Amino acid sequence: QTRRITAADIRARKGLEPLVCLTAYDAPMARLLDPHCDLLLVGDSVGMVVHGLASTIGVTLDMMILHGQAVMRGANRALVAVDMPFGSYEKSPQQAFENAARIMSETGCQAIKIESGTYAGDTIEFMAQRSIPVIGHVGLRPQAALAEGGFKAKGKTGAERDRVIEEAVIAEKAGAFAIVIEGVDEELAREITGTVKVPTIGIGASGHCDGQILVTQDMLGVFDWTPKFVKRYDNMAERTDAAVARYASEVRDRSFPSGDEVYTLRRIDG
Ligand code: KIV
Ligand code: NA
Repeated sequence: QTRRITAADIRARKGLEPLVCLTAYDAPMARLLDPHCDLLLVGDSVGMVVHGLASTIGVTLDMMILHGQAVMRGANRALVAVDMPFGSYEKSPQQAFENAARIMSETGCQAIKIESGTYAGDTIEFMAQRSIPVIGHVGLRPQAALAEGGFKAKGKTGAERDRVIEEAVIAEKAGAFAIVIEGVDEELAREITGTVKVPTIGIGASGHCDGQILVTQDMLGVFDWTPKFVKRYDNMAERTDAAVARYASEVRDRSFPSGDEVYTLRRIDG
C-alpha cells in the first residue's frame, strides 16, 4: 500500500527536486500517469480538451466532480487536485468554501485550485483556515481570457509584472500551499519563485519554477495545435489516425475479425 502524497509533502519540496505534474481527467489515464507524477490536476482544461468547448468558461462544478471521481479511482499515489470552475468561487469566500467542500467530499481529492487574482486573498484564507488545501494560479489566467481580450503571456509592462508578483504573494500569504504560474517570462518566474516560500509550478513559465505542469493531451499530441510552451512527447493524433485507418481498411476487406478474434464454442445441446 503506497502512501498518498499530501499537500504538506508538496509544500516541503520547495527548492528541491522539481515537482512533476500533469493534468488527468479519467481513470485509465490517471492510472498510467500516477507512478510518474507527484501531482495530478483535474484541470478545467477538461472543458476544452475533452468536451470540445471553446474556453473553460462553460465548465461546471458537476463536470469537475465527475472527472475528479474518475481520476481518484485511477490514482493512488499522486496528490490529486481539482480545479474550481468559473463562477464557483469568485462571489465570496463562503461560496468558495461550500463548493470546495463539495468537490473534496464528493471526489475524495486532496486539494483544490483557483485562478487567483489580487482579489482572491480573502477567499484563499477563508478556505485554508477551514482545512481546505488550496493551490493558487497566477499570471495568465484562462478564466479571465474573455475579459482580457485573449490568452496573453503576462509581464510586458512593469505594472503587469508587479501585479503578477502581487497575485503570487497574496496567494502565499493567504495560505496557498503551492502556486501555478502560467504564461510569464523567465525573469518573472525566477523572481516569483525566489519571493514566495511555497513551490511554484510552471506552465509556459520557464525552468525557474519548483515544478512543471502540462496538459496531458497537449504533451501527447492529441491535437495538431501546439502552444509555444508545449513540448510534444508523442503524436497521438497521427498514431490514432494510422491505427483507425488500419481498422477501417481491415473491416472493409474482411481481414478483421480473423480467426484469432472469434469465439469457438463447443455446443452442449447436441
Ligand atoms: O486547467 C488546467 O489544465 C490548468 C493547468 C494546466 C495549470 O489549470
Ligand atoms: Na485550469
